[in-house]
Amino acid sequence: LQSQDQNTYRIGGVVVKNKGKIRPLVPFAIHTKASTLLDDPEIDTIVEAIDDSEAAFEIAKYALLSGKNVISANKKMIATYLRDLIALQQQAQGRLKYEASVAGSIPIIQLLNGYLAQEPVELLRGILNGTSNFILTKIFNDSMDYQRALRQAQKLGFAESDPSSDVSGRDTWYKTKILLHEAYGLEISLDQIFYYGIDTLGSDDIQYAKSKGKRIKLIAHIIQKSGSIAAWVMPQFVDASDPLFHIDNEYNSIEIESSNLGKQHFTGKGAGALPTAVALHGDLTSLNREKPIARALSYQALSPEEIKLEVYIRDKQILDRSIIPFIKVREGYLDDRFHYLIGEVRLSDLLNLKSWLSSRSCGVIATGRYHVNEAAQLKSVKRVEMELAL
Ligand code: HSE
Repeated sequence: LQSQDQNTYRIGGVVVKNKGKIRPLVPFAIHTKASTLLDDPEIDTIVEAIDDSEAAFEIAKYALLSGKNVISANKKMIATYLRDLIALQQQAQGRLKYEASVAGSIPIIQLLNGYLAQEPVELLRGILNGTSNFILTKIFNDSMDYQRALRQAQKLGFAESDPSSDVSGRDTWYKTKILLHEAYGLEISLDQIFYYGIDTLGSDDIQYAKSKGKRIKLIAHIIQKSGSIAAWVMPQFVDASDPLFHIDNEYNSIEIESSNLGKQHFTGKGAGALPTAVALHGDLTSLNREKPIARALSYQALSPEEIKLEVYIRDKQILDRSIIPFIKVREGYLDDRFHYLIGEVRLSDLLNLKSWLSSRSCGVIATGRYHVNEAAQLKSVKRVEMELAL
């Protein structure tokens, strides 16, 4: 990593799993036990970039309780233990920073917690997984097959050690939960966020998209209306008029829409060693500059029953409409190989159907159309007003 950082840091040491592995440039003490650094009173900051979320949480917990700062790239650990980590931070002296956990080189966490902290974000949507985007780019632009594209993404160091996390949508799901917290100070449980991946997409789905002049992108969606929030992660059809259509390879892109600023787009490399290293370094640099923010606005989660999404659902056989409760069907097609329907479904029904859809390898792709029950929004706003009055 080339850097213009004039600060001096003393690197106390590096802990690795495999001491025998050949490493290009490590002029520091190499250890194999995290406790060597965790118990060193001279060390005030631990940078954690391992892929085991349970071990990472133990390290973060121990470090924070010992008054050390923690910088992490582990989105699964942050998303799973967000509540505990916030409590630990309040209890301990150390600060926790995790810019590298979401969208690689895009400083989205700093942005949401700083410049946009008092701005009511109405929509935040984007491509947050470099591996899936790389695979989809190769499929759509170069007609490469899925497995080969995945192997390339692994070789280039974009994929997680278990790439099913990338292609199943789980990696984006963790990142979405983190962004919900950063944008709104809200903790929504992971099981309230529907996710679906690109791993069940088949050639019929790709052909369908191409025949309509569209591409498919794996998109995280967070919407806020009158203080109520909902989120989902799904492959989505996008056409050339959508800026996300043009985001290729391992790049990530986030669109933020807010009342005072309209639309903003942030694009950058979302995966790979250097974008991650720059984000970790950025956290290190900013550690002593920031204080936790107090938000002027307050938000609450919207029930997934109140959101209707238009989705394309494809199965190898006739879709059983008694299982998938479409509210309205707009389009459909059936031949002896596959059946798809495009129609409106409640987000709560998608959450309930998630394992059924995955077990049948159904293709599930959002069209980008959705609407939120206005009465539910008004109800939740009234509740907040009442709480404020009390
Ligand atoms: N595997 C992740 C991705 C790495 O492909 O986006 C960055 O979080």
